[in-house]
Amino acid sequence: MYRSHSCGELRPSDINKEVTLSGWVQKIRNKGFMIWVDLRDRYGITQLIFDEERTPVAVVEKAKTLGREFVIQIKGTVIERESKNKNIPTGDIEILVTDLNILNDAIVPPFTIEDETDGGEDIRMKYRYLDIRRNPVKNNLMFRHKVGMLVRNYLSNEGFIEVETPYLIKSTPEGARDFIVPSRMNEGQFYALPQSPQTFKQLLMVGGMDKYFQIVKCFRDEDLRADRQPEFTQIDCEMSFVEQEDILSIFENLTRHLIHEIKGVDISDFPRMTYDEAMRTYGNDKPDIRFGMKFGELNAVAKHKDFNVFNTAELVVGIAVPGGASYTRKEIDKLIDWVKRPQVGALGMVYVKCNEDGTYKSSVDKFYDQEDLAKWAETTGAQPGDLICVLSGETNKVRAQLSALRMELAERLELRNPEEFAPLWVVDFPLLEWDEDTQRYHAMHHPFTSPKPEDITLLDTDPGKVRANAYDLVLNGNEIGGGSIRIHDKETQALMFDHLGFTPEEAKAQFGFLMDAFQYGAPPHGGIAFGFDRLVSILGGQETIRDFIAFPKNNSGRDVMIDAPATIDQEQLKELHIKLSI
Ligand code: AMO
Repeated sequence: MYRSHSCGELRPSDINKEVTLSGWVQKIRNKGFMIWVDLRDRYGITQLIFDEERTPVAVVEKAKTLGREFVIQIKGTVIERESKNKNIPTGDIEILVTDLNILNDAIVPPFTIEDETDGGEDIRMKYRYLDIRRNPVKNNLMFRHKVGMLVRNYLSNEGFIEVETPYLIKSTPEGARDFIVPSRMNEGQFYALPQSPQTFKQLLMVGGMDKYFQIVKCFRDEDLRADRQPEFTQIDCEMSFVEQEDILSIFENLTRHLIHEIKGVDISDFPRMTYDEAMRTYGNDKPDIRFGMKFGELNAVAKHKDFNVFNTAELVVGIAVPGGASYTRKEIDKLIDWVKRPQVGALGMVYVKCNEDGTYKSSVDKFYDQEDLAKWAETTGAQPGDLICVLSGETNKVRAQLSALRMELAERLELRNPEEFAPLWVVDFPLLEWDEDTQRYHAMHHPFTSPKPEDITLLDTDPGKVRANAYDLVLNGNEIGGGSIRIHDKETQALMFDHLGFTPEEAKAQFGFLMDAFQYGAPPHGGIAFGFDRLVSILGGQETIRDFIAFPKNNSGRDVMIDAPATIDQEQLKELHIKLSI
């Protein structure tokens, strides 16, 4: 028996018990006649004491050879600790060791394996298995497990069946690039790893499964950010005989349940906002509604004077920054530099200080009088003491720029409280999105999303105006889920492919299996997928999903621990019928 108890378990009620513990040596303090060792396992830390007067000499001698991260097994007696440690649950006791068995030695770890570590990000990634021994990472993985269990149990109780779908498939059209796997047995042919199980879950509906879910890995070859990994996990769901309202209701309840179970917070309100409104008032389709700073569109009150920058702009739009009137000239200049960074891309920023005495001081006083500026304040909701920041330019660009500024200021003003949860459904997404590069419309969600029936006639006249039965769930400014009601008849699906620029032959080659299936009685259906990594990290009060993934990739898509991707040898390439040209 390696252990009778874990390292997080023993309490004063166990005093005088003979116990066996196993774990890793976290810390050693050698005072000559006494040696203290902190023994760690997943469950906690227990202090061991080797005392020359009470521990056999041979055991004390062996203890002197211990080093950090040795794996040991000890036997001993639980005794009351003289100087208690109130910071850990086992801090009232220690183990007087009578026997020590070194199970494995260890070389010196490259960083300290404690809550506060001296290891930088890169080195911790390279030795991720050591980082996982640290509480912050370990706790995140345990938290992920907890959320996963809650989701599984909830959906299972609601009648959802978890079905696995294949990973070696044909390309799924989710908008990102596919990861490709060459086929040895089929020369010149390739599988793609799924960007999501989208087509399979629809086929499961044709197969009559009615309510499907899967906690499933998805693969997308796209640029990485804090909330994006090339392989990530979805809670993927699909239901038959449902309308949008049914889906919103079930997944609103799932989210409510999770926030209740994990945070003890009851969310009553799941507000809804159309995509258009989100773009107009927050410049973004995933607004963080925990704080205000809503956009005020200023075209009507800013385009009537000689200020050419505004007169030639498609959109003039501002936000009121609470308390910002007290910013110094230097602070405001810094803010202007911030919006001009290439990542944001604004050409400049106009500002108005709303003084406490009700007067205004702006960077464009030459063009606008107090009456004009009062209208700007009214439109942006600025109060005395606020600063109005105004950007102008092409509508989509300027919205994105002001939205970036809004988020940055909220971060600086600490308005993004991680303990507050503000979910939001964004609904009525456009069906199609114009792509400048290819000069054609693309499906904004995916090509199986159903248009709103009342908008179908617009497909021929104004395709960009057609709205979809598509929705996103936003939590604290992060898109945590997205889905839609699907097209379930062959005719509408063919019409969609046509509008997306597929010839009937191309559509058949790529999606023939789905169109075929739709001939055999497809039920009306729809679904949603949550980004599991995102959901877990936000519920954990953070926004970097890497911290909640056991073995994540770095920003260049590399696993620096196993050193992947890597070259493969000639023999393997030959088997796969691949000739490299580099
Ligand atoms: P969508 O593409 O919106 O929908 O993806 C669903 C959710 O997955 C998360 N997500 C990601 N998380 C981490 N890293 C990534 N690279 C990444 N990409 C997406 C987001 C997103 O909301 N098949 C559809 C769902 C459906 O229609 O039912 C789909 O995949 O949180």
